[in-house]
Amino acid sequence: MNLTLRVWRQKSASAPGGLVTYEARDISTDMSFLEMLDVVNETLLARGEEPIAFDHDCREGICGACGVVIDGTPHGPRRATTTCQLHMRSFKDGDTITIEPWRAKALPVIRDLIVDRTAFDKIIQAGGFISAPTGSAPEGNAIPVPKESADQAMDAAACIGCAACVAACPNASAMLFTAAKVSHLGTLPQGQPERRERVLSMVAAMDEAGFGNCTNHGECEAACPKEISLEFIARLNRDFIASSLTERPRSKHSDAPG
Ligand code: SF4
Ligand code: FES
Repeated sequence: MNLTLRVWRQKSASAPGGLVTYEARDISTDMSFLEMLDVVNETLLARGEEPIAFDHDCREGICGACGVVIDGTPHGPRRATTTCQLHMRSFKDGDTITIEPWRAKALPVIRDLIVDRTAFDKIIQAGGFISAPTGSAPEGNAIPVPKESADQAMDAAACIGCAACVAACPNASAMLFTAAKVSHLGTLPQGQPERRERVLSMVAAMDEAGFGNCTNHGECEAACPKEISLEFIARLNRDFIASSLTERPRSKHSDAPG
């Protein structure tokens, strides 16, 4: 296939950016989207031009590093598919494809298609842990976990922290990500000691990072490559209200969830 790409180029967070047009020639339908960008970058390097900067690590849909907006949709046209697992057979010969970075104040562009996701790290640091006694590993079956709780925790733990939910939300809200991380530990017996403090601290960190409010558009769930359910946001809201009556967060207090 031969394609025309319109790619967002931006040298740094403070530099102005803009869309630049490139031709992608002889692209196999079996290539992944990132492999297609690799081919374009080889052409740019051969011409002595700066390659397109994009983030990636696992290329297996598990690390969350690779997200870009493809023709206006985070991670592109295929449902439940990360950019690295999107294949060029989803496009047609002669297509023009527009590729942009996530757009959110809390996720500033570092260069071209790469954004700074430190704000997500801060939310995790605020509550993504449980207290556990040090020493030898505990017996695996010492704490029985109800099947329903285990299933819920696994569903929430599927979140890879890619931030497509933020990019898709008209308010740039991080509620789906935060809800997944709060629920992942909050549904398990091991996560109960910090359950109330965790939700307050993670919501406070989310608000402090500058993410927008959730107004129930549902775009986050539609864009999520791991199909994290909006039900986790409802769960976060219930936990937040209950916790607000009994606990205070360790970081700056927030009055209401994102
Ligand atoms: S909730 Fe989905 S879209 Fe948001 S960070 Fe997690 S995996 Fe990515
Ligand atoms: S590169 Fe790891 S999820 Fe895409």
